[in-house]
Amino acid sequence: MSESPDLKIVAFCCKFCAYKAADLAGSLRLQMPPELRIVQVPCTGRLDMVEVLHALEEGADGVMTLGCMPGDCHFLQGNLRARKRVEYVKKLLSDVGLEPERLEMFNLSSAMGAKFVEYAVEMTERIRKLGPSPLRRPSNAAAQGYRDDRLESGMRNMEAPQALPQESTVVPAEM
Ligand code: FES
Repeated sequence: MSESPDLKIVAFCCKFCAYKAADLAGSLRLQMPPELRIVQVPCTGRLDMVEVLHALEEGADGVMTLGCMPGDCHFLQGNLRARKRVEYVKKLLSDVGLEPERLEMFNLSSAMGAKFVEYAVEMTERIRKLGPSPLRRPSNAAAQGYRDDRLESGMRNMEAPQALPQESTVVPAEM
């Protein structure tokens, strides 16, 4: 399986199922797409969607969230909530002009090592077809401008830190 030069897919894996399934796939010596970067989370319900957006913003070309099978979440409804959040974020991505297919949620059990690889390959093929994320494509002037603006505003904030009060302004409470 050859790696597409600089594609990266972040896979947020629930530690009770998907992470174990990935581990099983490794033990069975099944070949994983080299684009995959696995991140363990306690439950997909604990995965803050800000982290998903952050991964995309920082250059991930695709993001997978992998949780337990419906009804098997160790925190009861974490995976169901995660699916709703993922669907919501996909709409947000579409609204800002990013392909929603770059994000997907999958469910599997810890015994599904081969299924894990199947999902990983499916997602990798999808991202290879879409190509690199426009957020890091150098030819995309708009995205580059967006990143430059963010950098600039970040630098402005660094140049002008909030002045700390010279003297304490805390008034002691009257006894
Ligand atoms: Fe696996 Fe919640 S414990 S998705």
